[in-house]
Amino acid sequence: MAEVVLSKVGKSFPGGIQAVKEADLVVRDKEFVVLVGPSGCGKSTTLRMIAGLEEVTEGTISIGGKVVNEVPPKDRDIAMVFQNYALYPHMSVYENMAFGLRLRKYPRDEIDRRVREAAQMLGIQDLLDRKPKALSGGERQRVAVGRAIVRKPAAFLFDEPLSNLDAKLRVEMRVELKRLHARLQSTMIYVTHDQVEAMTLGERIVVMNEGRIQQVDEPIELYREPANEFVAGFIGTPPMNFFPGKIEQAAAGLVFADGHARIAIPAEIEPAVKGASDREVKLGVRPEHVYDRAFVGAPPPGSTMEARVEVVEALGDEKLVYLSTPRCRFICKMEAHQKVGVGTEIEVVLDLNKIHVFEAATGRNLTAKVRTGQAAAV
Ligand SMILES: Nc1ncnc2c1ncn2[C@@H]1O[C@H](COP(=O)(O)OP(=O)(O)OP(=O)(O)O)[C@@H](O)[C@H]1O
Ligand SMILES: [Mg+2]
Repeated sequence: MAEVVLSKVGKSFPGGIQAVKEADLVVRDKEFVVLVGPSGCGKSTTLRMIAGLEEVTEGTISIGGKVVNEVPPKDRDIAMVFQNYALYPHMSVYENMAFGLRLRKYPRDEIDRRVREAAQMLGIQDLLDRKPKALSGGERQRVAVGRAIVRKPAAFLFDEPLSNLDAKLRVEMRVELKRLHARLQSTMIYVTHDQVEAMTLGERIVVMNEGRIQQVDEPIELYREPANEFVAGFIGTPPMNFFPGKIEQAAAGLVFADGHARIAIPAEIEPAVKGASDREVKLGVRPEHVYDRAFVGAPPPGSTMEARVEVVEALGDEKLVYLSTPRCRFICKMEAHQKVGVGTEIEVVLDLNKIHVFEAATGRNLTAKVRTGQAAAV
């Protein structure tokens, strides 16, 4: 059992820097959880506190049901893989992998069995006699993972382990790590600032910003039901479009209005948005949920707006169309065959079933999980 629980965990550094604030998190046994967020948001600090490499200033951390605040790193039954791999240059791959077990006085044949088993699993059995400098970046990365595996820890902690690899290798290693998780069946906590890596690796994702956990959810939920403007803008490429404006009462119901567009608020989310009438909000819609009117049959009333095409980026099977209105700029994803002329005015259709309304002052998503009936009562 290696459930990792953070309860109101905080970390301040000398000089008044609050790197982590009131972090509450339950990482379940055998779960693959990814911590993601921009540089400096407190990901590494959180991971290092779990590892015991950094003291906790507030709250408690438990691993496997036991509070570990005062337990030294070596007694926590966890293994950490760092971005720079931290291999011993003068030791062979075999020695690098065996080192931790030797320190713990494992019998020689047990060490040999574990090292060979891990090497086999990672496809590095032919590299065991080499020194790290004679390895490629990807191979070094495998050795670093191998060194963690041989320990058979209750939990693995990874701090941006793929960031020194080129794009293609990163994708390959990502798949391998996923396979490894399925095979080892251990708890894994993985830190990255790359949202695509987070989305593809994590069973659940923890989004952090400025030392605070913003949302903990499954990848698809983060994408569909972001809790706030930060998460909505961080997850998804290109990010969600935001239209600043107000909610107004019209004859047919509530509408979003920004002085250019008037977008009907669907009945489903009307009760959640009602309280924000006459207050500043942002209407959020993802680029893939904006369509060119020319390719849509009969759009529902209140779902369209005029916009000017500024730039078109062809990406192969799809294209990104950069649009502007007198009020703001936004992006629309179209299929490659859909032609649009740069400099022309087009009419776009917003998928009203996918729009969100954010409170401008707080960034809170008023419509998060309202459609699925899971919205938290406020
Ligand atoms: N030893 C330290 N002393 C003082 N401040 C620190 C220390 N370590 C980290 N910080 C500060 O704490 C904050 C969080 O740092 P942390 O390394 O956890 O960020 P991160 O999310 O891992 O960022 P990155 O993606 O760049 O690795 C930053 O503002 C950083 O400057
Ligand atoms: Mg970091």
